Amino acid sequence: MPTNRTFTMIKPDAVADGFTGPIIQQIEAAGFKIIALKKIQLSSEEAGKFYAVHAERPFFQSLCDYMCSGAIIPMVLEKENAVEDFRTLIGATNPAQAAEGTIRKQFARSLESNAIHGSDSDENAAIEGAFFFTEKELA
Ligand code: TYD
Repeated sequence: MPTNRTFTMIKPDAVADGFTGPIIQQIEAAGFKIIALKKIQLSSEEAGKFYAVHAERPFFQSLCDYMCSGAIIPMVLEKENAVEDFRTLIGATNPAQAAEGTIRKQFARSLESNAIHGSDSDENAAIEGAFFFTEKELA
């Protein structure tokens, strides 16, 4: 995947709360182009695989249960400096600490149910994009 791309997913809380439209509007208004998008529900196994890096953390099981509790909207986005700019757009992991105007500050329920994911490196963006989309869908 080119390095001007990042991966995101709108998480179950924000989809259930009806925030898909406003969140996508903010993403596009910030200059990101949507390359690929779908709506799916993860199995427990898939959620565990996606968050395998956190497998030893105390919040892992709860996070996996939450991530497969409802529909999510994974997307691959394109923009110059995509990974860093998108992390700025979504704000801190804990919405209570997220800056005003960020997506998590506006739409998240809690630290666990924090509305949206954003890849933390170009390498992870490529891995995470390939987790959800085929090469053809990303072309
Ligand atoms: P992390 O990769 O640290 O944050 P980010 O999503 O901002 O890159 O954590 C992954 C997800 O795990 C995070 O979005 C929410 C959840 N989480 C918890 O539920 N409890 C915690 O204490 C932490 C650090 C994260």
